[in-house]
Amino acid sequence: MDRQTAQQRLDQLRREIERHNWLYHVKDSPEISDAQYDALMQELLSLEREFPDLVTPDSPSQRVGGEVLEGFTAVVHPSPMLSLDNAFSAGDLRAFHQRMQRLLGVDPAYVVEMKIDGLAVAVDYEDGIFVRGSTRGDGYRGEDITANMRTIKSLPLRLKEPVSIRVRGEAFMPKKAFADLNRIREEQGQALFANPRNAAAGSLRQLDPKIAASRHLDLFVYALEGAEAHGDTHWQALNRLEELGFKVNPVRRRFQDIEAVIEYVETWRVKRSELPYATDGMVIKVDDLALQARAGNTVKSPRWAIAWKFPAQQEKSRILDITLNVGRTGAITPTAELEPVQLAGTTVSRASLHNEDYIRDKDIRIGDLVLVQKAGDIIPEIVESLKDHRDGREVIWQPPTHCPACGSKSVRVAGEAVRRCPNPSCPAQIRERVIHYASRGAMDIEGLGPAVVDALFKAGLINNVGDLYSVKAEDIAALERMGKKSAANLVAAIEKSKAQPLERLLFGLGIRFVGAKAARLLAENFGSIDALMAASHEQLTAVPEIGDTIAASVVSELADPDMQHLIRRLQEAGVNTVQEQPRSGGPLAGKTFVLTGTLEGLTRAEAQKLIQEAGGTVTGSVSSRTDYVVAGDKPGSKLAKAQALGIPVLDKDKLLKILSS
Ligand code: IVH
Repeated sequence: MDRQTAQQRLDQLRREIERHNWLYHVKDSPEISDAQYDALMQELLSLEREFPDLVTPDSPSQRVGGEVLEGFTAVVHPSPMLSLDNAFSAGDLRAFHQRMQRLLGVDPAYVVEMKIDGLAVAVDYEDGIFVRGSTRGDGYRGEDITANMRTIKSLPLRLKEPVSIRVRGEAFMPKKAFADLNRIREEQGQALFANPRNAAAGSLRQLDPKIAASRHLDLFVYALEGAEAHGDTHWQALNRLEELGFKVNPVRRRFQDIEAVIEYVETWRVKRSELPYATDGMVIKVDDLALQARAGNTVKSPRWAIAWKFPAQQEKSRILDITLNVGRTGAITPTAELEPVQLAGTTVSRASLHNEDYIRDKDIRIGDLVLVQKAGDIIPEIVESLKDHRDGREVIWQPPTHCPACGSKSVRVAGEAVRRCPNPSCPAQIRERVIHYASRGAMDIEGLGPAVVDALFKAGLINNVGDLYSVKAEDIAALERMGKKSAANLVAAIEKSKAQPLERLLFGLGIRFVGAKAARLLAENFGSIDALMAASHEQLTAVPEIGDTIAASVVSELADPDMQHLIRRLQEAGVNTVQEQPRSGGPLAGKTFVLTGTLEGLTRAEAQKLIQEAGGTVTGSVSSRTDYVVAGDKPGSKLAKAQALGIPVLDKDKLLKILSS
């Protein structure tokens, strides 16, 4: 491809990929499959590899996180990023309203928004291109976090219009991402983040942007600097931001009346636990920009806005017992069994105590009255033991000397907070491993959740992952609460999992430190489990992003005789252990085809396979994004649509010619 054509194609690809990014991450309504998205991305990456000087900072390829920084540069904010005054009661809100009436001489309209619990950031655009992201810092000077901000998928790298603007918003980590991150950190014996806000802040302050890229951060914007140039009200500014491609929180409303505002914030006090992100209150802002200017700012905060803080959701409960749970890596985690309490919309009866140091540091005892809250609105945790309420009957808990499941002597490696069961044949570990193997992100065996796994173990039908593929439908059907139909479905789901790509199998095997992403890298780089088993530490670390920790774990776990035995059994059962290489380089990479009518001597499935092998994608319906329509005999309405849209139509011979080019 010549330079000029490459430039054109790159431009087209970037626009298209960013549009799909926006549809997925901002609008929440994707139009193409992940595979189709990946194909576009692969085409972009390979073209950029070929023409490295054509890479631009707004290319979606730059979202993966570039080079490691040496430090953060300070940036001075053109106008200070203020904080907000707080209100804690309906009375405080009425007082705020009276202040506004006095100051402005009118009854102002208000916009009410969620107060997202994250990190205040400013983002700058020049001629529609994202050029800088910065933290609030002390309000006057912040830090340049451009490289990390670029990894946030909902942040537009190029706006829908070439405007030069500064926008403010809150970068945050969604509740699910926070829970997943902490679960993995706990399993790996790393320190946990106290709440999503700390996790978001910690992620954006990483010098290696790849870490930020792996953290699933998100961004809601809530202010446009110099909004007067775009309309008369804040409400219009928010809508304008949405038009430009930003993610603006849909939870926002405009009110004429302060009592209606109070009613609205009150409804969200309880309902907020349903939101997928953490909030610590709501923000009430005077809508009219001229009135905002009239009210002005104090040194610390605007007079025209106030934050209504939700009361902290904490409850008292009693620790009835401390029980132990053995994870799939053998980690023995203590859990507090609590007297059930209602907290932020759910009943809480358990809270993880993480490890023995945590229990000792907080001096938590069995029988204690404790204060319970949800970390970042989601994971129940014990804030403190209420020591004044002790009556002397409380029991000091002792760390387990032995595994509660198999009785092996437990070990605590120096420098790690977790205590582990060292026995790989421990039934509790095996149970967790089977559950993990069958889970959504791994082999995705529908219907094989914890309860069914337990039933299979209890009936002696399985003793480990390797047994799954020889379980018979009639044996499952005989289990309690299992019918013929569900047994057949389960066997079919197990059978189907044999065809999963190698990356899922690798993740499912539960090798320590090998998460979904490392599994994909390993599968793509080594291509088969046999090649991976033969790989040396050096060969593994030669893969970008695979470090010493992962490499050492892969080498030692794959050398384990039990693991080798398991892998052989899976291979014998017909489980796929190779990874098809991404077909990014094919002649049809990034091209989308639609088939219609019958092609002489070629079935629809064969045609589809040929196109896919050449890197193309086949979809079912014609749209402006279709590159070619292949029409055979008796074509349907798809042909007419293609002609109406001016999409090139190929017959069988032309298709074969392109395929062989
Ligand atoms: S408005 C001049 N709106 O709350 C504009 N702030 O306590 C001042 N925050 O530093 C901010 N969600 O980080 C505003 N919808 C929202 C917000 C919001 C979260 C944060 C922001 C600010 C802090 C003030």
